[in-house]
Amino acid sequence: MIYLDNAATTLKKPPQVIEAVVEAMRNLGNSSRGTHAVSLKASRAVYDVRRKIAEFFGCPRLDHTVFTCNATEALNIAIFGTFTPHTEIITTDLEHNSVLRPLYALEAEHDVKLKFVPANSRGQIDYVEFERLITSNTRAIICTHASNVTGNSLDIAQIGRIAHKHGLLFIVDASQTAGDLPLNLEQDNIDILCFTGHKGLMGPQGTGGLCFGNGVEIRPWKRGGSGVQSYLHEQPSDYPVRLEAGTLNGHGLAGLGAALEFIESVGLGEIGRREEALTRRFYEGVSRIDGVTVYGDFEKYPRAAIVSINIEGYDSSEVSFILSENYGIATRPGAHCAPRMHKALRTAERGTVRFSFSYFTEDCEIERALEAVEQMAQER
Ligand code: ALA
Repeated sequence: MIYLDNAATTLKKPPQVIEAVVEAMRNLGNSSRGTHAVSLKASRAVYDVRRKIAEFFGCPRLDHTVFTCNATEALNIAIFGTFTPHTEIITTDLEHNSVLRPLYALEAEHDVKLKFVPANSRGQIDYVEFERLITSNTRAIICTHASNVTGNSLDIAQIGRIAHKHGLLFIVDASQTAGDLPLNLEQDNIDILCFTGHKGLMGPQGTGGLCFGNGVEIRPWKRGGSGVQSYLHEQPSDYPVRLEAGTLNGHGLAGLGAALEFIESVGLGEIGRREEALTRRFYEGVSRIDGVTVYGDFEKYPRAAIVSINIEGYDSSEVSFILSENYGIATRPGAHCAPRMHKALRTAERGTVRFSFSYFTEDCEIERALEAVEQMAQER
């Protein structure tokens, strides 16, 4: 199979990630839940990954690096743990439902007014809009680093500057860029960065988390076992346990630690260059094929390694199905859980076929996918 659905999850993981998970499943107890050898081993393993993640994202404090089971959980913690009823939040048309649905719940249940920075039909936004939408009642800006549909990235540092100039909290969804593009809490003016472990970071599914800066306070989103202060009725107030109720995914986190070591050994810059070369090649090839429409802004790099297209005469799900059945090529069609983005692109009805690449995608796989698209476009 030619796997070009890396924006959904990276399939090819570094072998050391798999080995670390298997080793952890054989030898790790429950982190922070005892003082016997294998519980301590788990605590040390989790500590080690926490340190690596904090360093990777420039998080100033280890206890401000919190693990969750995915980016959606991290975003729910960040959004529900910081909002103020009857205020306003600014976000964008690029967002995934992991941002939109928690925000719509705040709107329905807590009278939070949502304001959207609009995207045009190429998925681009105008940064001036953020300033235009801010009022004395605005409390936060929440946005993705890159669209999971077009791959267009946003200038996070610039949006962060605007947020901080107006005293707003700045929350970033890094689902499509963590492990692919550089992200740093301080340099990018981010207050809370939410990430997943199974995409660009090349770790196992069921891993993710959030990193937050000094002075940021987040209320607990879930409550339960913490391994400490068991007689308290409330969730303990110290981080990270304030936000980490329940047994952590120690096995997955061991894999995430190995993935971070792999990324460090290759270099984030090298990974970004490779993914950019693959994206450029696929974009250049596919945009020359008659009957193909490409969505997004390909003049601006860095971007996520995503190219979304449609072929004249086909529905997106039909294209994805034929690619899979006849050519053995895996892509993702449809709405990609990003309804506002598709409305902006005018693809709400038909969806798009998303090709997404990883560091491990091979040049010959790009060429094969281009041949398949060309053949399908000619046959219709
Ligand atoms: N959010 C993931 C995607 O874009 C699953 O495919």
